[in-house]
Amino acid sequence: MIDIYGDLESTEHLPKVTEEELSDEQVNTELAKIRAELGNKVVVLGHHYQQDDVIALADVTGDSLELAKKAGSLTEAEYIIFCGVHFMAETADMLTDDSKKVILPDLRAGCSMADMANRREIDVAWKYLTESTKDKIVPITYINCSAALKSFVGENNGSICTSSNAEKVITWGLSQGEKLLFFPDQHLGRNTCFKLGIPLEDMVVYDPRQRFGGLTPEQIQKAKVILWYGFCSVHQGFTKEHITMWRQKEPDRTLIVHPECNFEVTQGADLAGSTSYIINHIKAAPAGSKFAVGTEINLVNRLAKQYPHLDIVSLSPYQCLCTTMYRIRPRWLLESFRAIKRGEDLNVIKVDAETTKYALKALEQMLKIS
Ligand code: 13P
Ligand code: SF4
Repeated sequence: MIDIYGDLESTEHLPKVTEEELSDEQVNTELAKIRAELGNKVVVLGHHYQQDDVIALADVTGDSLELAKKAGSLTEAEYIIFCGVHFMAETADMLTDDSKKVILPDLRAGCSMADMANRREIDVAWKYLTESTKDKIVPITYINCSAALKSFVGENNGSICTSSNAEKVITWGLSQGEKLLFFPDQHLGRNTCFKLGIPLEDMVVYDPRQRFGGLTPEQIQKAKVILWYGFCSVHQGFTKEHITMWRQKEPDRTLIVHPECNFEVTQGADLAGSTSYIINHIKAAPAGSKFAVGTEINLVNRLAKQYPHLDIVSLSPYQCLCTTMYRIRPRWLLESFRAIKRGEDLNVIKVDAETTKYALKALEQMLKIS
C-alpha cells in the first residue's frame, strides 16, 4: 500500500505530465478527445472544494454524502475518477463492486483532519473508555477518516456520518447506547450534539497525545459525549473575531458557515450546514442578498462568480484554502485518462476485503439513517 501521507516532497507518485510539456489549453483539448473515445466507461466525480477548472470537467459534483451515494449508484462506469481527497476515493471504492476501479488523480490529496486519528490510537482509546464506564458507548465517525477507522466503527456497531446527516446519525447513536464516542472532528461533534440539546458540560475531549487522553474515569462516567480532539485546519481559520467584525461592519450580511468551524463561530453565525446546504441556501436567496461564507475559498469564490446578483465574500479576510483538495488538477486528470486508455492501473484506490467488510457495514448503517 502506498503511504500517501509519508513523504510529501516525493515525486514518485506524481503524474508524469509536466507543465512544460503541455499548456492548459492542450490539456483540455486532449482531455475532450480522450473522454469522447472512452465515453460512459469513465465517470468524473468532483467535490465542491475543487478548483473551477476541475469542476468544469466533473460529470457530477456534490458534498461528501451526495458523492458517496452517487458512486454507489453508478452502473455503467468501469472507472470513477474521484476529484476530491483520499478518504472519499476509499469510500467510493467500498461502495462499488469489484468490477469498478476508483482513481485519485494525485495520491497526495489527503485530509489533515483524517490524519488526526489512526486505528492504533482509536483501539487504545476504546479500551480505556470501555474499561472506565459500564455505560454502552456507541462509536460514530465523521466520513473524513481512513477506511480502517470506518471498519472499527462497523466492528463496534456504530455508524458513519457526514456534515449533512450528522444530526440524524447522532440521534440514532443516542438511541443505541448511553454515550457516544465521536471522531475525528470535535467541532462537528460538539456543534451537532449541542444543537440536539446536549449541554457543553456533558461533552469531554479525548486527546490521544495525552496520557489516558487527558481524561479521568470519573470524567468519562459523567460525560454523555466523548469528542476526539481532531479538527479541520481550513475551517480552523474562521474565528469569532471574524463574526464580530461582520456584525459590527454590516449587520445585514448573513453569516453562513460549515459545521467544521468551531463552536463560537457556528453559534455566532446565522446558519450552518454542509457544502451543499450552503450552495442551496445561497442559490435560493433573493437578488441583493449579502453573505459572508465560512468555508473553503474555492467554493466561496465560485459562488460569488456564479451569482453576481448576490454579494458573496469569505467570512475571513485570509484565504482558507484546502491545499490537499487543491492538488487535483486537469493535467493529472488527463494522466488518469491516458492510463485508462493504455489499460494501466494508475493511482487506483483499493481497500482490502477485511477492512471493507466492516467499514461497509458502518457505511450502510449511515445510508439507512440518511
Ligand atoms: P461536505 O461536502 O460533506 O460538507 O464536507 C466538507 C469537507 O470538508 C470535505 O472534506
Ligand atoms: Fe480535510 Fe478540511 Fe480539506 Fe475537508 S477542508 S478535506 S476536512 S482538510
